[in-house]
Amino acid sequence: MYNDKNTRKNRKEGEQNNKVRIYDSHAHLNDPQFKKDLEEVLFRAKQNGVERIFIPGYDIKSSSRAVELAKSLNFKASAGVHPHDAKDFNSETLKKLEQLVSSPHITAIGEIGLDFYKMYSPKEAQISVFRSQLEIAIKFRLPVILHVRDAFEDIFRILSEYNNELPGGIFHCFSGGPDEAEEILKFKNFYISFAGSITYRNSRAKRAINTVPLDRMLVETDSPYLTPSKVKGRNEPAYIVYTLEVISKILNIPLQIVAKKTYNNAVKILEF
Ligand code: NI
Repeated sequence: MYNDKNTRKNRKEGEQNNKVRIYDSHAHLNDPQFKKDLEEVLFRAKQNGVERIFIPGYDIKSSSRAVELAKSLNFKASAGVHPHDAKDFNSETLKKLEQLVSSPHITAIGEIGLDFYKMYSPKEAQISVFRSQLEIAIKFRLPVILHVRDAFEDIFRILSEYNNELPGGIFHCFSGGPDEAEEILKFKNFYISFAGSITYRNSRAKRAINTVPLDRMLVETDSPYLTPSKVKGRNEPAYIVYTLEVISKILNIPLQIVAKKTYNNAVKILEF
């Protein structure tokens, strides 16, 4: 009787271990595009094995919304001002940001960084706002979520000044190649996150997958942006499986294992 029960229990646990468990480490559920059908989006995510979703802010308004959502959905969120909006950053923004950051649902500062590709804000403004927010991260002992486009050299230079005090971070939607990946791996407690863009034909980041050890890797959708090539329209967390498929194929490691490792990494850096 006892043995029988035990076998059944083991079998059940075995089944659970085979189940795909995915952590989408970056999805803007706070984006207005999800306002109408968030429940269905979350349902489809769950059906595809996406159990946890991290909600990043990108300005004060979206960061407040991220906190609200994280609270009601029992997820975690970040607050930060995107480099695109650096030109409007002032002392009032800083004050509001610090208020948001004291919420227990905020576990990271982001997304912050440098974007010299679109250059919606002047370079100097971007750098100074980036530094201010790195200081907030240090003050509140939170990791940072970095948005970097055409600015790796400057990011590495600035980050190396703060790296000893920073609790770590994530290079979100990694857009570099193997060389940049190697540089990132030198930073203590920094992770590289791959998005749907690695499903695109000419993806540079795809070539870096082999360079990144599984224990430093994350996956994300960056929903509603960066829809994987196999689907069309708005991106959503359920589509993260297409990104996992590419990684699993390149590394020749079962998708479940890649999902499990990246899930555990996300918990380690974003939920503590
Ligand atoms: Ni984003």
